[in-house]
Amino acid sequence: MSTDFRLTISRRSFLTASLAGFAATAVRKPALATQQTRRFTLRAAPGRTRLVPEPHPETLVWCYNRRVPGPEIRVRQGDRLRIEVTNTLAEETTVHWHGVRLPNAMDGVPHLTQNPIAPGETFTYEFDAIDAGTFWYHPHQRSFEQVARGLYGPLVIEEANAPNVDRDVTWVLDDWRLDSDAAVSDDFGAAMDASHAGRLGNTVTINGRVPETFTVRSGERIRLRLINAANARIFALDFGDHTPRVIALDGQPVTPHAPAGGLAVLGPAMRADLILDFSAEPSSRLQLVDRAYRGNEYRVLDIVYGDTPLRDALPDRDIALPANPLPEPDPASARRHDVLFTGGMMGAMVERQMDLDAFGDAMRGLRHEGRGIWFVNGKAAEGHALDPFLTLESGASHVLQMTNATAFHHPIHLHGYSFRVISRDGKPTKHREWQDTVLMAPRERVEIAFVADNPGDWMFHCHILEHQAAGMMGVIRVA
Ligand code: C2O
Ligand code: CU
Repeated sequence: MSTDFRLTISRRSFLTASLAGFAATAVRKPALATQQTRRFTLRAAPGRTRLVPEPHPETLVWCYNRRVPGPEIRVRQGDRLRIEVTNTLAEETTVHWHGVRLPNAMDGVPHLTQNPIAPGETFTYEFDAIDAGTFWYHPHQRSFEQVARGLYGPLVIEEANAPNVDRDVTWVLDDWRLDSDAAVSDDFGAAMDASHAGRLGNTVTINGRVPETFTVRSGERIRLRLINAANARIFALDFGDHTPRVIALDGQPVTPHAPAGGLAVLGPAMRADLILDFSAEPSSRLQLVDRAYRGNEYRVLDIVYGDTPLRDALPDRDIALPANPLPEPDPASARRHDVLFTGGMMGAMVERQMDLDAFGDAMRGLRHEGRGIWFVNGKAAEGHALDPFLTLESGASHVLQMTNATAFHHPIHLHGYSFRVISRDGKPTKHREWQDTVLMAPRERVEIAFVADNPGDWMFHCHILEHQAAGMMGVIRVA
């Protein structure tokens, strides 16, 4: 076993890699209300954990309930969740329930939907599990540091009638920037990260450990719930000749299909539920490879077959998930809104008519006061930036026509909603997938559609957390 946990990819090669005030309104009654309240407690605190194998030391982290990831919160669709969050960090925090359609006051955005939770304080979140699916939770206060230090966890809402599988497995992926003594590098807010592809790390973990192997049995069918909790890394997982079938994206069911090119692609914050059938002969193995960054492919882990087969033939059962109760947008009557993303290295210089020296000053300023270098409709969010840049009429269908006029990828996230991704570069998408975070390629145009049925002030931002911190966010008001 190799003791060198660092990937053979340097930071520099990444940089040059050309990858290519609303009241708590009750949203909707859950379709399948079980009327059961499930209680959980989360305590955010410093801790230590073994991310990398011995002889490397343990890593000092910030985490929930003394573990990375935090505990898997698992409920059934229709349950009510009551989650008490206690902050024992030395700084303010909040918890955002990423992808969950909930009342605005429970959304966990500091200064927008709640006051931050001060050190020593407790805040109780309460909401209904309307949609089944794979979600996650993380702070929304200085998330570029709090998430990077280990504050995140999975949230799974089970369908009443899920497809039958042999194992239901959750993998929370993360990408850490560790120093040689396995300490989290404290260069948060580095200008190079903020203006380029974000804080890319050097150590990929699954469920808080550098993985070695994953053991399966021949004939086994696994539902693999992937959650990308990394600040900035995009994953493109290649399962070799075991092509997965995607059954959900960002928690929402999709027509089961093999992903394009066989790769499960997840930008930061995105989730994918895969069905994997393991049919090979016992005692074979295959490599799981991440191919997101050309020239920087690496083995994530080996998938190893155990000695005893589970069954001879593959199970022949339906894998489609039951639909969630999402309102269907009507593109014909929808109001249309343009959203333009600009900025970043090169882009910010054009936007602000800066020369290189001024750009350097802005980036140094960013380190201290969050000066913006990314723009949404010409504006970089600075400070708390709570004025909405867009107000949507409640109850109507809306289409956001988004253009990525930058040289970088951006996973764009809207709080409080799932939206249909209806076109890319003018071409209708095949699956019209529901997402809450859509990965936009450089120069790409994407249209998303949804019914604005959830009133409130909702964050809309890039989930590369360094981009968000450097201005790439705004507020969309539904009223
Ligand atoms: Cu997962 Cu505004 O975030
Ligand atoms: Cu971005």
